[in-house]
Amino acid sequence: MKNREQGKSESSKIGKVRLFFAIWPDEGLCDALHELARQQQAACGGRVMRAETLHLTLLFLGDIPADRLFVVQQAGSAVHMKAFTLEFGRFAGWRHNAIGYAAPVGVPEALPALVAQLRERAAEAGVSFDRKAYKPHVTLLRDMARIPPMWSMNPLVWRVKEFVLVQSVLDQRGARYEIVGRWPLE
Ligand code: 2AM
Repeated sequence: MKNREQGKSESSKIGKVRLFFAIWPDEGLCDALHELARQQQAACGGRVMRAETLHLTLLFLGDIPADRLFVVQQAGSAVHMKAFTLEFGRFAGWRHNAIGYAAPVGVPEALPALVAQLRERAAEAGVSFDRKAYKPHVTLLRDMARIPPMWSMNPLVWRVKEFVLVQSVLDQRGARYEIVGRWPLE
C-alpha cells in the first residue's frame, strides 16, 4: 500500500519542474560566503553547501507543470527594478529547520519591492507560489548540530545587477540548479 502511494506521488511529479526566482552571487562573494560556512561549521557542525549553489531565493514557486515554464519566464520579463546593493553582515541559524544562513543588514527597499513585483506578476499569470512572509537569507549550512546566537560580521557587499529563474533538477548525485531565465536590473 505504502509503495503504491509512493509510486503515485512520484508519477504525479512527471511533467513538472521545480522552480524559484533568485539572485546569484558572483564567484568572489560565493567564495567568501563559503569560507564563512566552513568557519561556522567548525563551531556548529552541519553540512556546508557547495559554493556554486549559494543563492538568495526571491520567490519559491515549487513544482509547476513543465508546459507553464514559458508563462513563468514571461512573468520574469514583466518585472522592472533598478540595481541595488546588499550588505551581508549577519550569520544566524533557525532551530525549526536546523539551517545556518547569512542575512543582509539594513535591507534596501528595492529587495522587498522586487519580491513584491515577482509575486504580483506570478499571481497575474495564475502561477502559485510560497506566500510565507519573506525572510531574505542565503543558506550556508544544513543539519546544524548546534544553533548559534546571531553573529555580526564585517559586511560582505553584494551589488545586485540581475535576477534569475532557477530549475532545481534531481539526479543520481542529488539536486543541482539550472538557470532557465536571466533578467538585468537597470
Ligand atoms: P532554504 O535554503 O531556506 O531551504 C531552493 O529550494 C530554494 O528555495 C532554497 O533557497 C530554499 O530555501 C528556497 N525555498 C523557499 N521556500 C521554500 C519551500 N517552501 N520549500 C523549499 N524550498 C524553499
